[in-house]
Amino acid sequence: MKGIILAGGLGSRLLPITRVTNKHLMPVYDQPMVYYPIRTLLTAGIDDILIVTGGEHAGDFLKLLGNGKHLGIRHLEYTYQEGEGGIADALRLAEDFCDGEKSCVILGDNIIEGSIAEAANAFRSQSTGAKVLLKQVEDPERFGVVRFTEDNPNGSIAEIIEKPQDPPSHFAVTGMYFYDADVFTMCNQLSPSERGELEITDVNNMYLKRGDLTHALLQGWWTDAGTFESLHRASMLVANSRTRSTKDESP
Ligand code: DAU
Repeated sequence: MKGIILAGGLGSRLLPITRVTNKHLMPVYDQPMVYYPIRTLLTAGIDDILIVTGGEHAGDFLKLLGNGKHLGIRHLEYTYQEGEGGIADALRLAEDFCDGEKSCVILGDNIIEGSIAEAANAFRSQSTGAKVLLKQVEDPERFGVVRFTEDNPNGSIAEIIEKPQDPPSHFAVTGMYFYDADVFTMCNQLSPSERGELEITDVNNMYLKRGDLTHALLQGWWTDAGTFESLHRASMLVANSRTRSTKDESP
């Protein structure tokens, strides 16, 4: 399975600092943001990785990551998204890289405590379709949100709604997705949303309509880091986890 990290976009919610750097190169506690999705892929056994980036500071990824060997990446590629056409627009650029294989797609600002290894293994044995990872959140209106057929996260998903004003549940679709190679056909069928982007939620709803979308609940904490508030929260969560693991290791 291939790994794709989407690190394009203009990071406008982190201005003015994103005038001089790419959002995904900013520190989350003691490491650049992009290290976290890289580690998430590596711990799931995915070491053939494409980074989709964009904007004026794309070259800095190469300076930081090089060929990725020092981080344990077996094969690293980069591509460049022009403009900020949305997550599904960035994903389209990965078609040749995937070359018919399944992929695990991670948004470059998504940081987790645990691992997606179990979900990745489940998807390796899923013959077709897609899989999303859900997490219960306090502020569902910021995310893609699930409406369940019955009021039960273990039941089926009826619909995913992007940033609903009146969320039908507290379960957000996290920015970690598994897809078969049909995802590229779907991305190419999309029309821009009201915010002018090709939405990944529309892709997930297409799989849902086909009856080919599975889901799992993510264990451990999850956060994005695309606003000053969530960036600060991400650093605090990482710092607390480090302190806890240092304590666990001490005699
Ligand atoms: O974090 C999970 C959420 O991410 C999901 O619940 C939502 O359904 C999904 O739409 C997305 O919402 P956001 O509005 O928070 O996404 P954002 O525009 O902040 O983009 C997240 C990452 O995706 C960003 O760090 C880089 C990548 N991206 C985004 C855009 C708009 C690109 O690579 N290219 C783009 O054009």
